[in-house]
Amino acid sequence: MPTTTTQIQLLQPDDWHLHIRDGEVMKDVLADTARQFARAIIMPNLKPPVTTVSLASAYRARIEANLKSLGISDFTPLMTLYLTDNTSADEVRKAKAEGIAAFKLYPAGATTNSDAGVSDIKRCHSALEAMQAVGMPLLVHGEVTSSEIDIFDREAVFIDQVLEPLRQNFPELKIVFEHITTKQAAHYVRDAQTGGKNILAATITPQHLLMNRNAIFAGGIRPHNYCLPVLKREEHRLALIDVATSGNSRFFLGTDSAPHAKGAKEAACGCAGCYSAFNALGLYAEAFESVGKLDKLEGFASLFGPDFYSLPRNTKTVTLVKQAQNIPAELPLGDATIVPLRAGETIAWTLA
Ligand code: DOR
Ligand code: ZN
Repeated sequence: MPTTTTQIQLLQPDDWHLHIRDGEVMKDVLADTARQFARAIIMPNLKPPVTTVSLASAYRARIEANLKSLGISDFTPLMTLYLTDNTSADEVRKAKAEGIAAFKLYPAGATTNSDAGVSDIKRCHSALEAMQAVGMPLLVHGEVTSSEIDIFDREAVFIDQVLEPLRQNFPELKIVFEHITTKQAAHYVRDAQTGGKNILAATITPQHLLMNRNAIFAGGIRPHNYCLPVLKREEHRLALIDVATSGNSRFFLGTDSAPHAKGAKEAACGCAGCYSAFNALGLYAEAFESVGKLDKLEGFASLFGPDFYSLPRNTKTVTLVKQAQNIPAELPLGDATIVPLRAGETIAWTLA
């Protein structure tokens, strides 16, 4: 008789790609993340973006003040800086000295608040050289921005036009290909030669493991399933599931939970971003269970990320139980509300 798993225990996971924004809304979203994760890589795409060590220190202080007022003492934000055409090698070295975890490359115009991003990666040569020299990871939003390139092809084209040349020019640079969405990206990261070094990885979101592009158009337009890079065809989802659940340490958890108020999503020009922080771990557990690979969840969620970032693994454990959790239709977000992923439905796994 096959047995069904009803409970799993994992070392506490971390979220290696997260948006928590700023101001009033930050508290609401921080609380959701800190219930599940010990640490998170905090994205720097604020308005204005977090481009310097001093802006990041001030942002960290605001995060810590919010954590304190929420009574949370067991969550650590890992700060990142937003790479621009003007980032200097000095700023990179200063960032390393001040404990900044990574730089984020947004091609200008690729997504939410990316107007100040990199217009041409050639302009970043000295900053990239410094990152390579000090072992500072570069996190990439891997999409080209040209309007002539079909939106569903922008990630695959980015690999050929930007990522592969970047890796040729900076063979020792630590790179995370963030929120991958295609078979091409999954296979590129899986098959890349790195001389045995742990310098190339990819994060994968819960929505890209659980949904394909039909979910954006199911019976009408579904703005809460719209994010960037946009959901792709089923064959791509299957390739992501395959690498995520394979036990390959190059693939780890990054929710890309990206809060936008309900009104900003349900609009004539709705914002990109899915809010998965409410029960992201439950969503990942569903994805791994769907292919009978729950035993591979701990590596993906809790081990491979800290190993890549050369940080200690967490020591506490968390337990997930197979118990359907109702997901509210809306959650508070400052003075507004937000519609979480799976709103009004259930998620099969819940944190004990
Ligand atoms: O869907 C997305 N939302 N993708 C991104 O890359 C950015 C994010 C956001 O900040 O809203
Ligand atoms: Zn993101």
